[in-house]
Amino acid sequence: MATRPFIVGNWKMHGTRAMLSEARAIDRAAQRLMQVEIALAPPFTLIHPVRREAEQIGVGAQDCHPADGGAHTGDISAAMVADAGAGFVILGHSERREGHGEKDKLIAEKGKAALEAGLKIILCCGESMDKREAGKAIEHVLKQIKASLPAGIEEAGEKLTIAYEPIWAIGSGKAATTEEIAEMHSAIREFLVKTFGEEEGAAVRILYGGSVNADNAAEIVAVDEVNGALVGGASLSAESFMNIVLAVQEVIAN
Ligand code: PGA
Repeated sequence: MATRPFIVGNWKMHGTRAMLSEARAIDRAAQRLMQVEIALAPPFTLIHPVRREAEQIGVGAQDCHPADGGAHTGDISAAMVADAGAGFVILGHSERREGHGEKDKLIAEKGKAALEAGLKIILCCGESMDKREAGKAIEHVLKQIKASLPAGIEEAGEKLTIAYEPIWAIGSGKAATTEEIAEMHSAIREFLVKTFGEEEGAAVRILYGGSVNADNAAEIVAVDEVNGALVGGASLSAESFMNIVLAVQEVIAN
């Protein structure tokens, strides 16, 4: 692993203030595990409280609106999540694409707004089982990334992270195999180098997501071109999340 691994917990629509104790426990443990970069993306309502209480970990949002502000009832702008204390935003998650009909173009616009608000981006991509069985997984994922990248992104290595999350692996308890992950991550890396040049393209982190847990995290992050993980279900308790981080730390130590 060339870069410091990045382990991000995506809390999705889970968490009230009662869960702040988990965030605090994650933050305390993170202070002893500095070789791994750790972050949480709680629901909007918990961004500010988590940021206020956590010293070590990064805090991000799970979405933002492309506009600066205006008549968009129920939406939240990039500047608002930045103001609440977020340092990054997850964009293009398959649950947003499926549940809210988000298309690549909209995701690219959200990305532009996020960068303008000073946020980093974790851009999600991933194929359905149908696409994989049709032998079109790589083609689909690269097309998705290309179309949902914000135009003219500078310092991509610093500002952009890609999360490869096969839809069939999310919440299913069945992660992709290390062979499937290796093949996809190497294709994504090749695309990034072609798009951003040797240095910047190599510096963009590529995370794997989809049923990552403490038992499979070590072998997944040991795969070439895997720079960390985006973790859903297993990030909801400090114990299961930190067991993932510990497993990743072991890989670095060896
Ligand atoms: P999961 O979710 O770890 O529960 O599979 C990952 C994600 O959707 O980010």
